[in-house]
Amino acid sequence: MPLKATQAFTVKGNTMKKEFSVTLLAALLLAGTSAGYAGAPDPERIQEARQQTRAFAEDLKSTLMKGMKAEGPKAAIRLCNEEAPVIAMSHSTDGWDIGRTSLKIRNPENAPDAWEKQVLLDFASRHQAGESMDTMEASIQDGDTFRYMKAIPVGGPCVICHGETLAEPVQEELARLYPDDKATGFRQGDLRGAFTLTYTSD
Ligand code: HEC
Repeated sequence: MPLKATQAFTVKGNTMKKEFSVTLLAALLLAGTSAGYAGAPDPERIQEARQQTRAFAEDLKSTLMKGMKAEGPKAAIRLCNEEAPVIAMSHSTDGWDIGRTSLKIRNPENAPDAWEKQVLLDFASRHQAGESMDTMEASIQDGDTFRYMKAIPVGGPCVICHGETLAEPVQEELARLYPDDKATGFRQGDLRGAFTLTYTSD
């Protein structure tokens, strides 16, 4: 749309063009806020991202807890290994892409990119400053791509597989599946990482 406007104005000649370009700039800035070009995300999109995150988190948690109850942590690790990426895929529909990341990762596929790393570092310092992780989030509109992140705290059951001391079978299974595992040494109440979502409109 902005491109069309520029073309329309250029045929009107130089004097007019100058005057119009100021109006055009203002119009673009205004359009930017509603269409998301200026970096301010649409509040409705943020709401959607929150819902997507909640649904994904619930799905992950119930799969994990079912696995733990049925067969114990060792089998649950295998379940996580196989199911976490599948669950992420099943929630990545209709333009959304959803996953998890962290500054200390277990699965190398979850490594943060530049923006994610910057947000994770920001979350870490906000956490240190005492901000609640329940509402800790970040979002950005970058051209056609909306991005959203939400902090993940370490809860009670998480330390079985991400804590400072791990049971022998857990340790063995993790070493087998994730030889480069960095996601241990956490305590309850620590910042574990973040959900990370993108939405691309076409
Ligand atoms: C039964 C063991 C187990 C428990 C309990 C567990 N996790 Fe994990 N966690 C894993 C495994 C295995 C992976 C790697 C999954 C994969 O391959 O994508 C993982 C990956 C993650 C990741 C993705 C980033 C990374 O390091 O690859 C986050 C975030 C995470 N876990 C948070 C949690 C939180 C929060 C809890 C508690 C609610 C929790 N985990 C409980 C085993 C566990």
